[in-house]
Amino acid sequence: KPISIIGMPMDLGQGRRGVDMGPSAIRYASAQSLLEGLGYEVEDIGDISVPSPESIQIGNPKLKYLTEIKDVCEKLSETVSSVVERKRFPLVFGGDHSMAIGTIAGVAKHYNNMGLIWFDAHGDLNTGKTSPSGNIHGMSLAISLGIGDPDLVNISGYAPKVRPENTVIIGARELDPGEKELIAQLGIKVFTMHEIDRLGMARVMDEAIGIVSHDTDGVHLSLDLDGLDPKDAPGVGTPVPGGITYRESHLAMEMLAEAGILTSAEFVEVNPILDRENQTAKVAVALMGSVFGQKVL
Ligand code: ARG
Ligand code: MN
Ligand code: MN
Ligand code: MN
Repeated sequence: KPISIIGMPMDLGQGRRGVDMGPSAIRYASAQSLLEGLGYEVEDIGDISVPSPESIQIGNPKLKYLTEIKDVCEKLSETVSSVVERKRFPLVFGGDHSMAIGTIAGVAKHYNNMGLIWFDAHGDLNTGKTSPSGNIHGMSLAISLGIGDPDLVNISGYAPKVRPENTVIIGARELDPGEKELIAQLGIKVFTMHEIDRLGMARVMDEAIGIVSHDTDGVHLSLDLDGLDPKDAPGVGTPVPGGITYRESHLAMEMLAEAGILTSAEFVEVNPILDRENQTAKVAVALMGSVFGQKVL
């Protein structure tokens, strides 16, 4: 399938500037030429325009920059949706993880029942009520499941975007109390670092692929680079030690490629200001290679 790259220079969903430069950093790490080298036809449709935080008001401290995040996620959703309509694979570069609200809104309306892989150190399952920070990037999975602020939940005019039984979280190691409650209440399958250590990534991915592809007609990968260990991906705003290794993450992507289930993907939270020589963007691009079938032999 041909691929369409979309940049989402979003940094309104979290506290630190710099993640708005993620899409440039990923492009600079030669994403497009790598994918073309794998035989894909690739177009880059450029960036969604996002206002800079200095030019706007923070608004409600429990849902910071809510109005602007809603607006830019609507725009991202429309762009992603038109890519799907054109029978192309949407590949979105971020940008903080609040952008997933828009990406998922744009893809999910094209499927009856979409599966979702949330690769992350965090659950991003807070609401305005449970969030310790008021940062919307910590709420985007809950919103996609239909829980949280109605303006965000109803982006693109429908809700929920995905169902909890079709969702898996991989790599979690820092969950807030309200997120744990929601996981229990919704019965979301979470492969924490404990399961990854205990079962190994191969078995975790076998199970995860089974869950997200059961009775679904499309699968989105939302990959937060902080799911990886900060030693391998230091350029992220909310690093948590004890993460998924470079090798384990490649295996996970290779198994997704073999399963052939992905219909869209986003690589988020790359912050070149916090990075060392663009290492995190390079890791993101290397993982994209595996997602799109790159092999040693
Ligand atoms: N749980 C914390 C919060 O709600 C951190 C969220 C980090 N999310 C992310 N996409 N990096 O603020
Ligand atoms: Mn995270
Ligand atoms: Mn199922
Ligand atoms: Mn995240």
